[in-house]
Amino acid sequence: MSSKISVVSARERTPLDPSITPDQINRLVESFYGKIRKHETLGPIFLKEMGEDWSEHLHKMKHFWASVLLKTGTYKGKPVPAHVRIEGINTGHFHDWMNLFEEEVHAIFTPEAAPLLLATAQRIAQSLWFAMLADPFSNPPARFGCA
Ligand code: HEM
Repeated sequence: MSSKISVVSARERTPLDPSITPDQINRLVESFYGKIRKHETLGPIFLKEMGEDWSEHLHKMKHFWASVLLKTGTYKGKPVPAHVRIEGINTGHFHDWMNLFEEEVHAIFTPEAAPLLLATAQRIAQSLWFAMLADPFSNPPARFGCA
């Protein structure tokens, strides 16, 4: 076994921050989507796409965030195709999404972990924005949300 390979894979498994736990991720997903459901502009979009039963989506999102934050590798989906087919999304929806997400992250994660997590979410949001809304004459906002 080459030592180089084990060093690389150990780094790949390193959590974004050592304080982040699976329980925090589960709470984040449950509370964030609980608020999305009631949100004036985002709620109807999710309800139209997923109907009333969100259990499968929440399960998927727990694996998504565990893969991003704890490097579990348990999320196997493709976010870009899942989003590009959703109709009626604009830049304002991204700001709304991020504002809600920021609130939940600050309520659940440590002051050290929260900014790292939010910077990661911003990067993913920007790549989704590019896939869904970019045209040759526009750039994404430097950051989503206004908090
Ligand atoms: C305007 C903001 C957003 C809206 C309206 C939105 C809406 C949705 C909807 C309706 C789905 C379900 C699609 C389906 O299963 O039929 C979905 C899936 C998903 N969303 Fe978003 N989303 C937004 C932003 C984000 C951001 C910023 C992230 C990550 C930081 C994200 C991550 C995901 C992931 C990982 C999935 C699951 C994709 C899959 O594997 O099927 N979304 N989103």
